[in-house]
Amino acid sequence: MMRSAILAASRSARLQAMISRAPVTRGVVQRFVAGDDTAAAVAATRTLTVEGLTVSLDHLGEDPTDRAQAEHATAAYLELLSALERDGLTERLGPLSARVEVSVKLSAVGQVLPGDGAALALDHAREICAAAERVGATVTLDMEDHTTTDATLETLADLRKDFPATGAVLQAYLRRTEADARDLAVAGSRVRLCKGAYDEPASVAFRGRADVDASYRRCLDVLLHGDGYPMIATHDPAMITAAQQLITATGRTHDSYEFQMLYGVRPQEQQRLAGQGHVVRTYVPYGAQWYGYLMRRLAERPANLTFFARSVVSKG
Ligand code: FDA
Repeated sequence: MMRSAILAASRSARLQAMISRAPVTRGVVQRFVAGDDTAAAVAATRTLTVEGLTVSLDHLGEDPTDRAQAEHATAAYLELLSALERDGLTERLGPLSARVEVSVKLSAVGQVLPGDGAALALDHAREICAAAERVGATVTLDMEDHTTTDATLETLADLRKDFPATGAVLQAYLRRTEADARDLAVAGSRVRLCKGAYDEPASVAFRGRADVDASYRRCLDVLLHGDGYPMIATHDPAMITAAQQLITATGRTHDSYEFQMLYGVRPQEQQRLAGQGHVVRTYVPYGAQWYGYLMRRLAERPANLTFFARSVVSKG
């Protein structure tokens, strides 16, 4: 019931106007979303990189209902990459790492469209990867709900033929993920490990917190013992400690992995880890479509409400 109420709210233009204008909302949104446009995304990137963090930018958009909208989303990434380069913010840090990257949802660039959606998304992702390579940035494909996992991993394999630094995301709550982690823990492979943000059925996903955490630890073990470039995306102190222990045990150097956290969530912890010499990347969503984005995140998994609420009262 909660889910359908939130989804109904996400479609209400009146509610959107009301919520967008409320001073409290503006504060909360500003905490988690860098701003409405490319200029705001560039400004946030400048601030974070001056603080010693690296950045991944996510252009927020509604799911496209036609090709033109998917092209529009692709164009937004191309514009962003040019603007970042113009501002001198793009720089390769190593063969698999760059100061700035973009995170792309294949749904936004066409995967959700009927018919040739997957092929269209691949073409668009290719354009974004080519632009990123040109300016010295990288691309990671965000992972969405489990019905898209196979298609996304197939697109990733295609992209990696021409753009080997393209990153994947694995979600520890999926039962299949430990096996996927083994497949992807190979030389040259960038893999972001997160817990997973969608409300998935028990047939494909672990539902209990302890099971998800146990899976996260197993996947960390696979990735950090493997030959790839693990990107440890979590705010959970227990997972961060487990990762640090594995980093020490495997003798990994700071340039062979990174930590990642969301913009506005545990900023002091991001600084603390960066201060210890770890590469820390802040995932920065931006764009005018933040309303639908935040509401859908809440509807997908009502526990996300607690997650964001906790961040409003704590920076540590
Ligand atoms: P979780 O929500 O399990 O919280 C664990 C513990 O962390 C809490 O109990 C608390 O101790 C601590 N904690 C959390 N927030 C805190 C705060 N603000 N202050 C203090 N303590 C806090 N998902 C997806 O499905 N596809 C994707 O592509 C991505 N991409 C992505 C990129 C990046 C960079 C991140 C960080 C996350 C994602 N995610 C994602 C989201 C991810 O799957 C997950 O939903 C959230 O990161 C929440 O899970 P955590 O592991 O952070 O901790």
